[in-house]
Amino acid sequence: MSKILVTGGAGYIGSHVVKALGEQGYETLVFDNLSTGNDWAVLSGRLVRGELADRPTLDRLLTEFRPDAVIHFAASIVVSESVAEPLKYYRNNTATTLNLLEALRDYGVNRFIFSSTAAVYGIPEVIPVHERAPLAPINPYGTSKMMTELVLRDLAEADPAFRYVALRYFNVAGADGGNRIGQAYKNPTHLITRALKTASGIYPELQLFGADYDTPDGTCIRDYIHVDDLASAHVLALESLLAGGSNAIFNCGYGRGYSVREVLDIAKKVTGVDIPVTLAGRRDGDPPALVADSSLIQSALGWRPRHDDLEYIVGTAWAWERKITGK
Ligand code: UFG
Repeated sequence: MSKILVTGGAGYIGSHVVKALGEQGYETLVFDNLSTGNDWAVLSGRLVRGELADRPTLDRLLTEFRPDAVIHFAASIVVSESVAEPLKYYRNNTATTLNLLEALRDYGVNRFIFSSTAAVYGIPEVIPVHERAPLAPINPYGTSKMMTELVLRDLAEADPAFRYVALRYFNVAGADGGNRIGQAYKNPTHLITRALKTASGIYPELQLFGADYDTPDGTCIRDYIHVDDLASAHVLALESLLAGGSNAIFNCGYGRGYSVREVLDIAKKVTGVDIPVTLAGRRDGDPPALVADSSLIQSALGWRPRHDDLEYIVGTAWAWERKITGK
């Protein structure tokens, strides 16, 4: 069976992909500095703790493990932090990926899956947004990911043996259906996680960032995708690359949007808690609506989402939240 190096595989999304790869019989090696990831989240294969920027360690790993493909999750991901500390994002997301790609070239590893983001679109003019929409990121996080996409495009153009798939994630949420892994950030910023931690009493209230957007109920609209469905998109992308498939960029979302208020209503229903909500001002850099046109990944890879149900998504996140808080 193929051997897959997974950078950042101890993190939230990476760990769900490692789980899915293990279930499919792949041999995985997770390389993670555990800055935001956790050793307990790696349910399959080996975990090596280390820094991607440390070339001698990477050389040892590539010599010893000889991966057939790499799935590259390791990155910094908080939009507001990227505005305050842009160099951290260009270092961790762009420069470090360059180092990794150079090492992979030197060891002849030429199948690569990249975690990109809907943030590369900035504020899209047309919703749902298609992969061909202009790239116009509005924060360093999105720019750092877009720059890496461009590097991959140029590398694949220069070296036909190199093949990649970039997956542009929309709003990833939920937890493992078996409740073994889930989000475990120290300072979570995402809506569903904040709402559930408010329901469990960790935060006193949920701040609603803006109710004056040009949307039906005035709050922002997002396309929430269950993390296990995102994991299956990675498995299909990998199968495609290993079978000689071509370079591709795919949106990963369900193609339908929920407003912040709709999400909060579902969170209240799932938890049975009347989550206290206070209206706050708009958060910088929030596009009013972000919904994927995901027809391409469905037609090209045969991706069929299994959890396109916001109540299920919030339900799995709530089960996980109760497990980690012991409530
Ligand atoms: N929101 C609140 N209160 C909160 C948290 C969020 O009202 O406490 C709102 C936000 O303002 C936004 C919506 O809920 O309107 C969703 O916010 P999230 O932080 O959950 O997610 P984002 O849409 O901001 O972020 C996602 C990805 C990023 C990606 C971005 C692209 O997590 O990686 O989409 O816009 F960059």
